[in-house]
Amino acid sequence: MKALPIIDVSRLVKGGDASHVARALDRACRELGFFSVVGHGVDSNVQTELERLSRAFFALPESEKAKVAMSHGGRAWRGWFPLGGELTSGKPDLKEGFYFGQELGPDDPRVRAGLPLHGPNLFPELPGFRETVLAYMRTVSALGHTLMRGLALGLQLPPDFFDESLRDPTVLFRIFNYPSDAHAATTERWGVGEHTDYGVLTLLKQDDCGGLQVRTPTGWLDVPPIPNAFVCNLGDMLERMTGGLYKSTPHRVRNVAGRARLSWPLFFDPSWDAPVRPIAIPEAARVHGDRAERWDGKSVFDFRGTYGEYLLGKVSKVFPELAQKL
Ligand code: OGA
Ligand code: NI
Repeated sequence: MKALPIIDVSRLVKGGDASHVARALDRACRELGFFSVVGHGVDSNVQTELERLSRAFFALPESEKAKVAMSHGGRAWRGWFPLGGELTSGKPDLKEGFYFGQELGPDDPRVRAGLPLHGPNLFPELPGFRETVLAYMRTVSALGHTLMRGLALGLQLPPDFFDESLRDPTVLFRIFNYPSDAHAATTERWGVGEHTDYGVLTLLKQDDCGGLQVRTPTGWLDVPPIPNAFVCNLGDMLERMTGGLYKSTPHRVRNVAGRARLSWPLFFDPSWDAPVRPIAIPEAARVHGDRAERWDGKSVFDFRGTYGEYLLGKVSKVFPELAQKL
């Protein structure tokens, strides 16, 4: 495998016969669990604005960024964290970042009940930042719904099959800044260490630096940036729900560009209280998830419960300090 498949999803987005798109998605999900999406219709003005404002934010002095630090986000788990503040695979990542989620006010019953990861976002005092981030999350979430209809079609299921578990999707959006790292090429240092994503579908916008790598049976595959394409990959929940037919593939980032690399992953995941259940796919019964092959030595197939429970277990590993406060 030399490159990710590039899938034009315009038929799915605009309506019409999407069977071709569905077949391409199905193939990509079985083989690698990673693909690039073009023809998605996500407003390029919003994307350009997001990129400009993200760079403006990371360029602020530490004291300004500290005003929206995650420690001010409480249980909602929002805000900025500095370089080395997140641990993937147990080691600090060489990145700083900003965490966002669904914007919920204090009167929302889930916020009142003190549910972790629910609440308001923190926004810096940069004009347009709040509106742009929320608009981006809205439009990319809509694309998430559309792609999941395509995945349902590809699995020969009714197109609305995933609608119920995605009625109120858990959307986590992040902006990452991987600083230029002179030693990246010669040492084992990772912008983000090898991991799989937790949920259903990740939609990643990346700048023109490159650095994302995907694990394939024959070695690590670079994912070079394609202008105005989203890199999509499946998370653990979809692997779980399809009995291993669809892959949640390990990936990592190493910034060897010699300049800062920005990326914008949006995690489009099941509703907090959606039970994670296997889908009845006859073919899936023949596929076996091999525990020993997984990066973390654990099997997603062992999990029983809701998506919220699964997510909390994961998040507490990458942010151990915050987990103690819960
Ligand atoms: C992630 C991830 C890749 C990137 O946040 O889960 O894999 O390019 N990010 O930032
Ligand atoms: Ni990831």
